[in-house]
Amino acid sequence: MRVTADQGAADRGHMAVTEAMAAVTRADFLPLSARRRAGEDRPVGIGHQQTNSQPSTVAAMLRLLEVEPGEHVLDVGSGSGWTAALLAALVGPTGSVVGVERVPDLTRGARDAVAHLPHVEIRQASPDVLGAPESAPFARILVSAEAMTLPRELVDQLAPGGVMVAPVDGQMLRVHRAAEGVRVSEHGRYRFVPLIEADRLD
Ligand SMILES: C[S@@+](CC[C@H](N)C(=O)[O-])C[C@H]1O[C@@H](n2cnc3c(N)ncnc32)[C@H](O)[C@@H]1O
Repeated sequence: MRVTADQGAADRGHMAVTEAMAAVTRADFLPLSARRRAGEDRPVGIGHQQTNSQPSTVAAMLRLLEVEPGEHVLDVGSGSGWTAALLAALVGPTGSVVGVERVPDLTRGARDAVAHLPHVEIRQASPDVLGAPESAPFARILVSAEAMTLPRELVDQLAPGGVMVAPVDGQMLRVHRAAEGVRVSEHGRYRFVPLIEADRLD
């Protein structure tokens, strides 16, 4: 069977996600009392009514994101820090990851959890700004909380050619900022904790 260049790249991308998921130990990002649940394919509570997402969902999102080594990426809703660490494994030492998290206690925990990764920075989310426009543009944006409508502020933080994966109103969306405009495709139904947008921040 002849394998096209695109198919070869997709296969390498899938393998990179599988390797990252194997290399980054989920238990290290869970509260001590929940570590025995690390092997379950379910979301696990991390406090403050938030969760460390379901592994199969995270893997599906990372495959859609098609992260390349050396990229500058944004992790919106860093929670436990696990997805930031997975993104760090995918971009490698020449890339960089900025994570933003709105719950201060989780921000501190995520910072501690990724302290050994010099190319990852977890920031406290600003109460009235979504994402990290001060560090844009990003080649890739992963959003781990669900918006009701596609957040325009985050699309604006994508570099030309960049990709964002985000749950929006129950659907997993892949948003590609192409030269001819923004292309959005749907990739199945998922449930997530809500993305708290600026007008609803406390
Ligand atoms: C599903 S949870 C965390 C998943 C996380 N990626 C992980 O690996 O543990 C989603 C997170 O998004 C955060 N969040 C919600 N709205 C946010 C916003 N506007 N900015 C930053 N973080 C937000 C929540 O506080 C929560 O920790």
